[in-house]
Amino acid sequence: MKAGKDGLDLLQEIDRLAQIPWQEIPKADLESRLKWIGVFFRKRTPGYFMMRVRLTGGRATAAQFRALADIAERLGNGVVEITTRQQVELRAFQVKDVPEIFEKLKGVDLNSLQTGMDNIRNVNTCPLAGLTRHELLDAFPVTQELTRIFLGNKEFTNLPRKCNVTITGCLENCTHAETQDVCMTPAAREADGSPVSGFNLSVGGKMGSGGMTAAVPLNVFVSPGDAARLAAEVILLFRDEGPRGETRARVRLAFLVEAWGAATFRRALEDRWGKPLAEAGRDVRFSRHADHMGVTPQKDGRSAVGQCVPVGRVNDKHLREWARLAETYGTGQIRLTTGQNVVLPDVPKDKVTALLEEPFLQEFQPDPHPVQRGLVSCIGTDYCNLALIETKGIAKTLAETLAKTLPPDLPPVTMYWSGCAAACGNHQAADIGFQGIKASVDGKVVDAVHIFAGGHTGPDARPGEKIMELVPVDMLPEVLPALIKNLPMLKKIRRDTEAEKRVLMIPMEAVYE
Ligand code: HEM
Ligand code: SF4
Repeated sequence: MKAGKDGLDLLQEIDRLAQIPWQEIPKADLESRLKWIGVFFRKRTPGYFMMRVRLTGGRATAAQFRALADIAERLGNGVVEITTRQQVELRAFQVKDVPEIFEKLKGVDLNSLQTGMDNIRNVNTCPLAGLTRHELLDAFPVTQELTRIFLGNKEFTNLPRKCNVTITGCLENCTHAETQDVCMTPAAREADGSPVSGFNLSVGGKMGSGGMTAAVPLNVFVSPGDAARLAAEVILLFRDEGPRGETRARVRLAFLVEAWGAATFRRALEDRWGKPLAEAGRDVRFSRHADHMGVTPQKDGRSAVGQCVPVGRVNDKHLREWARLAETYGTGQIRLTTGQNVVLPDVPKDKVTALLEEPFLQEFQPDPHPVQRGLVSCIGTDYCNLALIETKGIAKTLAETLAKTLPPDLPPVTMYWSGCAAACGNHQAADIGFQGIKASVDGKVVDAVHIFAGGHTGPDARPGEKIMELVPVDMLPEVLPALIKNLPMLKKIRRDTEAEKRVLMIPMEAVYE
């Protein structure tokens, strides 16, 4: 399909496709190639498409939020999903309206190109890049440069599979960098007797395709000036050498790294680069994690105010309110996090209290209960035909119930939900992860989850381990308080040995005890 015609060619064809009934669009264009231009056929709602809009590093402006709100309200169903790739999905569009949507997006310097299928997805970085005191360097310009290199460039549109990239200078591990195909994290080195800041490079991380795999360090240090081009070379190496003949579940970059090993991969990359690559620098990250919620002092004395959006689903009216707040209290800037949350930066100190008192900050709170703060969920049955269970509603209601009964001073807990094994909700990267499944109880099919625990990214990244299977969703209000109370034990799971892991499956009775 990819060899037959480049998906980007649909940019030239979209005006024509917009004029014919969607049923007459050839199947490969309809269900696949349209995703190269950010238009997603949804089997659950035939004729009504989802659109994904790229927000590099999670950055947006008030004007962009208003444009997105207009598009969602006037041409879609008003629903806006903030995703774990710091971008947005809008719903229920007809192909006839896509040319108009493209014009509107272009007017505010946005686009939806290459946001699905075998493309380089939205490039992630710390949402407080350039602002937080806890960063080695501002990686946002690198994410922008990389995006400029590949966007609209057919050199990058026939990859074996999708490619996720995170480039971050944040010391507080606020993105799940190690789950990415290309992962650059802050590092320091000596060059010609003086210290230099840059990134260490790891490759081959993933979430799905058989479970979470942490990216493998390549023993490479790269300066900020070279980082975007080096990331592009890694991706071109994947394009040229990555496996293609096998099932799609076996063709992520991780499998090339596994087949070659880090040393061979490094040599091949060095050959492409054309000069010696520096050895890895000192990993300067802290072990702690930040979610950038609440009030964070910026380097320049102003503050960034992070608002929790449990499970990330909002609507056009919410976007307009964020636009208003960003202009009233900040500089019109808005940033999205990989936790599906929103940050309003650049708030002068004397305006912080007034912002915190706005009614909208009672709805999307800067300091919610820990069980709500770390909540992430994929799309689920509402719109995703692969989903085995509804996710967002269950996750949100459950967290609200737990927040009423569990103490507000609980240690932080992340709870991530995926509606199926594809793992779009990153469930193996959470303290407690849920993977949707169907179970049979007394001959009746019910919604259930496999529960994972101890998932972790950062310097000691480890996938969560499955600790319970086929737990009916209805039982979660009873099961979860016990699990959360035992969080220190669950977090320790990642440090256990292979032999100990085998006895980790917790029988239900033990949870009740
Ligand atoms: C077999 C593999 C996979 C399939 C078939 C799949 C399918 C999907 C579908 C259908 C959606 C959109 C649902 C909607 O909004 O209507 C989606 C969204 C998403 N998926 Fe996956 N997915 C897969 C693997 C993954 C993996 C491994 C990740 C990484 C964690 C991931 C991350 C995401 C994210 C972040 C979104 C939200 C949109 C975005 O920001 O790009 N997916 N996926
Ligand atoms: S994890 Fe499964 S249910 Fe959730 S969005 Fe991905 S494919 Fe759909």
